[in-house]
Amino acid sequence: MKFFVDTANLNQIKEANDLGILDGVTTNPSLMAKEGVKGEEAIMNHYKTICEMVDGDISAEVLSVTFNEIIEEGKKLAAIHPNIVVKVPMIKDGIKAIKWFTDNGIKTNCTLIFSAGQAILAAKAGATYISPFLGRIDDSGWDGVQLIEEIAQIYAVQGFKSEILAASIRNPNHIIRCAAAGADVCTCPLDSILGLLKHPLTDIGLAKFLEDAKKM
Ligand code: E4P
Repeated sequence: MKFFVDTANLNQIKEANDLGILDGVTTNPSLMAKEGVKGEEAIMNHYKTICEMVDGDISAEVLSVTFNEIIEEGKKLAAIHPNIVVKVPMIKDGIKAIKWFTDNGIKTNCTLIFSAGQAILAAKAGATYISPFLGRIDDSGWDGVQLIEEIAQIYAVQGFKSEILAASIRNPNHIIRCAAAGADVCTCPLDSILGLLKHPLTDIGLAKFLEDAKKM
């Protein structure tokens, strides 16, 4: 399973990248706004900086919702760097645009997936990645990981090539369950990635080893 970090914060991206296990980055308009990135030039420069920091796929989300505008915006984003993946919302014009990008060699990430039906449509359009938002499904009282399992099963049976990018991760346990459920990628907040490191018995064991090492 590939690890992406889900943030537009450059310090967090650097910290995740320095671990040596990072395969890419996802952003969205909310994450970009949180970092104060404003205006077309600043947005383009921010994506360029991320591409120069991380050697992996970088999702950049379109802000348009009509076919022609999505295509124009997506072409501009894709021109920033070969690693840019154009992130397109799961709407009718989005599906049409994903098919166009697929036919024209531009990688896509179909975002805001909340059902297996949406995942099938996105795969049919040739999306490189599809992003089920499992945390938001959990928040609304359903089981997000169950959706990952269902999509993984459908894709295996049908031979769909889109990669399942588990998104809206809330904690380390989500990452573990996504790995078991067959997600190809998990995009996580830095805290959830670092949470995988933690176990109290590791801390107790290390403290004892370091104590005993003084007697060596
Ligand atoms: C995915 O690409 C999105 O950026 C993200 O995972 C959404 O997560 P949230 O539900 O925490 O906003």
